[in-house]
Amino acid sequence: MSNNLLKGKRGIVFGALDERSIAWKVALKAKGQGASLTLTNAPIALRMGAIERLAGQCGAEVIPADATSVGDLENLFSKSVEILGGKLDFVLHSIGMSPNVRKNKEYAGLNYDWMLKTMDISAISFHKVMAVAEKQDAMNEWGSILALTYIAAQRTFPDYSDMAQAKAMLESIARSYGERFARLKKVRVNTISQSPTMTTAGSGVPGFDVFMDYAGKMSPLGNASADACADYCVSMFSDLTKMVTMQNLMHDGGFSSSGITAGVIEQMKK
Ligand code: NAI
Repeated sequence: MSNNLLKGKRGIVFGALDERSIAWKVALKAKGQGASLTLTNAPIALRMGAIERLAGQCGAEVIPADATSVGDLENLFSKSVEILGGKLDFVLHSIGMSPNVRKNKEYAGLNYDWMLKTMDISAISFHKVMAVAEKQDAMNEWGSILALTYIAAQRTFPDYSDMAQAKAMLESIARSYGERFARLKKVRVNTISQSPTMTTAGSGVPGFDVFMDYAGKMSPLGNASADACADYCVSMFSDLTKMVTMQNLMHDGGFSSSGITAGVIEQMKK
């Protein structure tokens, strides 16, 4: 159902890799709510080709950009403003990758070059995105910029490894840049802390299925789906949430406020 919540709004969606990606669902829902958008991903991810299908469904152009490259981001923002015919109202940063997680490195044996890569891709890229948007004056007043994060920024989840540090930095960047962008341009910046979700990035974490099951039982409403996350993103891009900024917003079915739940007690009794 469309309420045209994003009618006339323009934006960039980073990170749609395949149908399971949270960004994929956000792009479809934003389009369904009346937005026009461009899609972007790292050149290597674009080679898989799935994004072209999404582009067809959204009537969107795909502009390659490695989010760690300021040059690529400059090209992405200037082309997006040109193609969409004006400044932007929303940006979704839906990017995460850790070479240490991917290669199953023990936490004590992290490869530090890879750790820097984790930080650059998963956190510092968010700063780069906003710095380019600011430099090009590419955002409209009351625009909304979002990044997706995970509660491992605040609590330990051992297999999440150096992504925990990356998410802590990402959330901190949202606060620091949120203050700046509010002051300069009345643009709001937030992170959404999403439940574990079965996507390519999610399922790269060892033991993810067991973990999802546990998180579901620890969340009174159950795990939040990628679809529900996309709905929340759309509401955060809309004019209904204009005064929300510099927040880490929990979208987790109640997980973050639960000590123990009836679901876990039931399981322990078995
Ligand atoms: P996904 O694997 O579909 O998306 C991750 C995206 O990051 C991919 O499209 C990938 O190509 C992109 N990416 C990686 N390196 C890049 C680079 N250098 N430049 C540009 N793009 C790059 O997985 P998902 O789950 O949709 O992830 C989206 C966001 O949601 C990530 O920030 C992730 O950490 C976050 N998140 C995911 C959860 C999960 O359980 N799946 C839970 C909480 C947050």
